[in-house]
Amino acid sequence: MNDGIARMDEDERLADPEELKGDQDLDGSLRPRALGSFTGQPVLREQLSIFIEAARNRGEPLDHVLLAGPPGLGKTTLANIIAFEMGVHIVTTSGPALERKADMAAILTNLEEGDVLFIDEIHRLNRAIEEIMYPAMEDFEIDIVIGQGPSARSIRLDVPRFTLIGATTRSGLITTPLRDRFGFSHRLDYYSQEDLSTIIDRSAGILGVSIEPEGAHMLALRSRGTPRIANRLLKRVRDYAQVRHEGRITEGVAAEALRLFQVDDEGLDRVDREILTLILEKFDGGPVGLSTLAVAIGEEADTIEDVYEPYLLQRGFLMRTPRGRVLTRLGYLHCGATPPRGPSTLFEPL
Ligand SMILES: Nc1ncnc2c1ncn2[C@@H]1O[C@H](COP(=O)(O)OP(=O)(O)OP(=O)(O)O)[C@@H](O)[C@H]1O
Ligand SMILES: [Mg+2]
Repeated sequence: MNDGIARMDEDERLADPEELKGDQDLDGSLRPRALGSFTGQPVLREQLSIFIEAARNRGEPLDHVLLAGPPGLGKTTLANIIAFEMGVHIVTTSGPALERKADMAAILTNLEEGDVLFIDEIHRLNRAIEEIMYPAMEDFEIDIVIGQGPSARSIRLDVPRFTLIGATTRSGLITTPLRDRFGFSHRLDYYSQEDLSTIIDRSAGILGVSIEPEGAHMLALRSRGTPRIANRLLKRVRDYAQVRHEGRITEGVAAEALRLFQVDDEGLDRVDREILTLILEKFDGGPVGLSTLAVAIGEEADTIEDVYEPYLLQRGFLMRTPRGRVLTRLGYLHCGATPPRGPSTLFEPL
């Protein structure tokens, strides 16, 4: 990718603070456009850069890509970056938005050679649509049925050679035939504190916010390993610094603001803490089933499983057992409670 540098410049230019209006725009502009400005995920970045360069040199579309991982780690961002680096259009849709086979057929036949088709939440594709994707991904053709009853007939249509990029927060729900048709698949990890500091610095530059390295470090520590949360915290702390101080984010200003926004030392927010204290106080530390927990919290079970739980599990505050969720030793300590003594069968991992 010899022109990578030129593109990085373009990326920075597109992020000109003069052009930014409103939070919605800000969010879009904080999204890196080129692989060179994508921070973190070093293994994935290197694999992708080789994969992209090889396909470009051969003048072929990229093989299909599956990106998995918790929300806010950069799956949508990467899908856009891949299209940008390949110099092709990206058509974006999502699993639940596609209801009929005909919708999918229309999207596929309208693609241009080499285009990226990005399907978000691909684990939620319905069965009929998933089946239309198998020959489309493998042989670039689809079978559609025309007419009804005795006069119905099936015709085969060619579709342009495209690249499917699927994103999912639940790779476990993707069927084997679909998974097998991706040439490349990767699970995104939570980001290191250093990478999050770099992302916060970059975003602060784009937003025109002045932030000290200690301030960025503090926000990075509380971002749950997630760039989306890092950017969100940065914006809220920016507001606080602007109203209560001279606008500069120091370590002290960041700490005060985070306290006001109820983000604790581990980066857990109000809902995270509610999950832990509820298991502790109402369910004696667990085990408690996901659906019971969801009702008690007043959130969708899916939201708890996709958004909140992964980080609580990763940090070791919570554990999944065959009988339900249980609080770990660290979970008790984080709630300010004394963990039960001695080894307990409840603490056997799944
Ligand atoms: N590696 C990165 N470097 C800089 N910013 C990033 C990076 N990854 C993500 N971001 C920022 O975080 C935000 C969220 O990323 P993105 O929308 O790609 O996440 P996602 O994995 O698609 O989440 P979801 O599962 O909720 O769709 C983006 O707006 C972008 O600004
Ligand atoms: Mg996304």
